[in-house]
Amino acid sequence: MELPDYIKAKKRTKEKVEKELYELDDSLKKIGSGKKYFLKTYGCQMNEHDSENIKAMLEELSFVEVDNYKDADLVLLNTCSIRENAHNKAFGMLGRLKHIKEKDNPDLIVGLCGCMAQEEGVVEKIIKKYKWVNFVFGTHNMHRLPYILNDALQSQKQEIEVLSREGNIIEGVPVKRESPYKAYVNIIYGCDKFCTYCIVPYTRGKQRSRNPKDIIREVEELVKEGYKEVTLLGQNVNAYGKDFDYQYTMENLLEDVSHTGIPRIFFMTSHPWDFTDGMIDVIAKNKNIMPYVHLPVQSGSSRILKLMGRRYTKESYLELFDKIRERIPNVSLSTDIIVGFPGEEEEDFLETLDLVEHCKYDNAYTFIYSPREKTPAAKLDNQVPEEVKEERLQRLNKVVNKYFLQQNKKLVGQVLSVLVEGTSTKKNELFGYTETKKLINFKGDESLIGKIINVEVVDAKTWSLDGKVVE
Ligand code: SAH
Ligand code: SF4
Ligand code: F3S
Repeated sequence: MELPDYIKAKKRTKEKVEKELYELDDSLKKIGSGKKYFLKTYGCQMNEHDSENIKAMLEELSFVEVDNYKDADLVLLNTCSIRENAHNKAFGMLGRLKHIKEKDNPDLIVGLCGCMAQEEGVVEKIIKKYKWVNFVFGTHNMHRLPYILNDALQSQKQEIEVLSREGNIIEGVPVKRESPYKAYVNIIYGCDKFCTYCIVPYTRGKQRSRNPKDIIREVEELVKEGYKEVTLLGQNVNAYGKDFDYQYTMENLLEDVSHTGIPRIFFMTSHPWDFTDGMIDVIAKNKNIMPYVHLPVQSGSSRILKLMGRRYTKESYLELFDKIRERIPNVSLSTDIIVGFPGEEEEDFLETLDLVEHCKYDNAYTFIYSPREKTPAAKLDNQVPEEVKEERLQRLNKVVNKYFLQQNKKLVGQVLSVLVEGTSTKKNELFGYTETKKLINFKGDESLIGKIINVEVVDAKTWSLDGKVVE
């Protein structure tokens, strides 16, 4: 049994990160024969992509996917720690699974992985109160799933293998992609920013960049397979390459990925601190790097930003924001905002509203501050009362929504390039996304799915556009 340890998780060493190849022992390839699995994913794109790897690993073991957990022999929860409600959802699901195990299917195998598995408190709780959970593994040893699962199947006792420290970068893990047109590609793992509210540096370990050759090779393969779009993933993609002992940065990577000829490149997430002028130029210059920048601000108050450990002020953020808007034609900008950080006063919140009025974001993800286990902000004693946080969130949402609609309305009458992704459930229509990630619905033949076509915007709503295909 290996358990998570926060003190070890917090350590950042200069130890060199090596590359290791995923290997599967032939003897395990039939352990899932005749068995069905259900995988539930919580959290960010990184977790979604990990789940694509987990599915492929399970299928190499002969498990078959089902889309209702009640039909499964194995249920695995790929969890998220970012806010309390992500926790509650996962524990709620565990409650339902316990019921099934007691009433209908005592042989049900239940596993938990992802970011919650890296938390000391969660694992303690699983050991003490959730003895019926069969196995737990963390984010650093996801590639060991076949072995941990096999041990759990054999031993009949709870298997827990969570490493507190990140290991090597594992290449060659199989992947079952959700979409035949859009693909996630990891470029950097972990995070070294340690924003005071955030648990990610503990659950995902130190910042480690993937070798550029491996990334380019993956994108070239995707081009060959007919993929139209890649999203380069990392908690802070702008820090890409900073851990190499040679000079190669996000700017270089964007340029090289652009040369693979993949029609659309997105990247997520950018920390404002590491965003260079060179990156802005590369995005502006290359037509297949999409004019879309997600630039989380978190707060508009320089005082709160300092307490958050974000390393920029309201003024320096706005300077960068305006530069991006000026230099990248038709760029769309989105953000993340937290309300109710400890000590946030009404005047700090008004600074946030003021910043939003200036930025007029195309999209914004707004959150109520949620204290996370052992993070510095959780220990501050001036926590904001729940009802104040709720009230601020509502006021903020009103303002951000107003601008989503205003930005969308500017697009009416324009002809935009759209990747058609499928048929929409509500109406007898197709849907797709523009180069700035706007959802657009329009009438058209199903043969258009998977293609990039021109669509004229005829109407704008807060969350989507309506369009008509331009022949
Ligand atoms: N690496 C990204 C963010 C990843 S987490 C970045 O730094 O931009 C996604 C978002 O969740 C964050 O941008 C932040 O707005 C929010 N978040 C993180 N920790 C939080 C917490 N403790 N409470 C509320 N929101 C949080
Ligand atoms: Fe969390 Fe900050 Fe790292 Fe983003 S940059 S993952 S908010 S610590
Ligand atoms: Fe959640 Fe982990 Fe992503 S905490 S947001 S799943 S990195």
